[in-house]
Amino acid sequence: MISLNNKHILLGVSGSIAAYKSAELVRQLKNAGASVRVVLTSGGAEFVTPLTFQALSGNPVSSELLDTAAEAAMSHIELARWADVILIAPASANFIARLAQGRADDLLSAICLATNATIAIAPAMNQQMWVNAATRENLQQLRQRDILQFGPGEGDQACGEVGPGRMLEANQLARLTADIFETGSLSGHTVLLTAGPTQESIDPVRYLSNRSSGKMGYAIAQAAIEAGAKVTLISGPTALAAPPRVERINVRSAQQMFDAVMQHVTNSDIFISTAAVADYRPVNIAGQKIKKTEDTLILELQRNPDILARVAALENAPFTVGFAAETESLEQHAREKLESKGVDMIIANLVGEDIAFERDENTLLILAADNKQQLATASKRVLGRQLTDIIAKQKNTPRSI
Ligand code: C5P
Repeated sequence: MISLNNKHILLGVSGSIAAYKSAELVRQLKNAGASVRVVLTSGGAEFVTPLTFQALSGNPVSSELLDTAAEAAMSHIELARWADVILIAPASANFIARLAQGRADDLLSAICLATNATIAIAPAMNQQMWVNAATRENLQQLRQRDILQFGPGEGDQACGEVGPGRMLEANQLARLTADIFETGSLSGHTVLLTAGPTQESIDPVRYLSNRSSGKMGYAIAQAAIEAGAKVTLISGPTALAAPPRVERINVRSAQQMFDAVMQHVTNSDIFISTAAVADYRPVNIAGQKIKKTEDTLILELQRNPDILARVAALENAPFTVGFAAETESLEQHAREKLESKGVDMIIANLVGEDIAFERDENTLLILAADNKQQLATASKRVLGRQLTDIIAKQKNTPRSI
């Protein structure tokens, strides 16, 4: 039984008779737990109606790039960011050519240009079109751009010929799609992660905290599990469910998070500190609810331990990855943090009223001692997978990304 739990699959359907199999594919992806959105090209819509895909996916079907009503609901940029994987099945010879050229004059090709997500194509065409040199060259280009290719199979074709060019069956495509997430890049590694905010008690009913949702950390935990790691997630209070197979330890305060990290760190070879740990806690926690008797109230605060810096300073420190949430001078502050905390990698992002915290998307800058890499705006799930791959590579070849 394959699992695509919580995955967002954008299924692109282009013009080929094999499009009839895509209806079954939607069902299989949904049964495996995925959310599916279908984008039809004009050719695809000649073979299967939007209504079929809408009924099966439970979501509106998009097809026009310049449809103001559709763009208002979910624009091509939003669709490009929504997707974890874009699976184009069937991918006709024409669509493959358009993808190779980087066209953006219809919705599906524009989404493919605008996305950060993995793209996979399931070619379907007449066997002569498949062996044609133009198709060969287009596919070669797509491979160089890391676009995955599922199939095609060989056999009887709708046109009456026999040969390569048959789209794979729905169950094969669903399995290959699930395999995209199981990269194995962290197999054999033990990852310790912190996520979410901390809460620092003031009295029995009040606390100091911040707006961290925990989404970035939970997305990395999920990606690390899928990459084959054993994952322990030490989490401040969040509304999120722990990803399957992750061991979650719930804490509230920075001190509790520190204690839990120190208890587990010796067994871990990678430490990723995504938590928004409160820098200060009240010196005294009132035993009873504080009454509003005075016009002003002064809270005396003391520093919390810097969990990340303390882990990085351990004698047998794991590979340590910290986050830097900044409101300005992102790179400069992040580089200072890389050095002052003595960590192996810093992942920096801008934060503010409407940026990053509580949102599903983020834009990240990754800094290591001698390297930097910018990750374009994408969903935290997509970024979680990209970060996991980068961390795996950096751990295995220290000092270069
Ligand atoms: O110093 P600053 O709080 O900006 O550093 C952010 C990084 O340090 C994050 O990775 C955060 O998880 C970690 N941190 C920590 N313990 C603290 C404060 C921050 O682990 N007390």
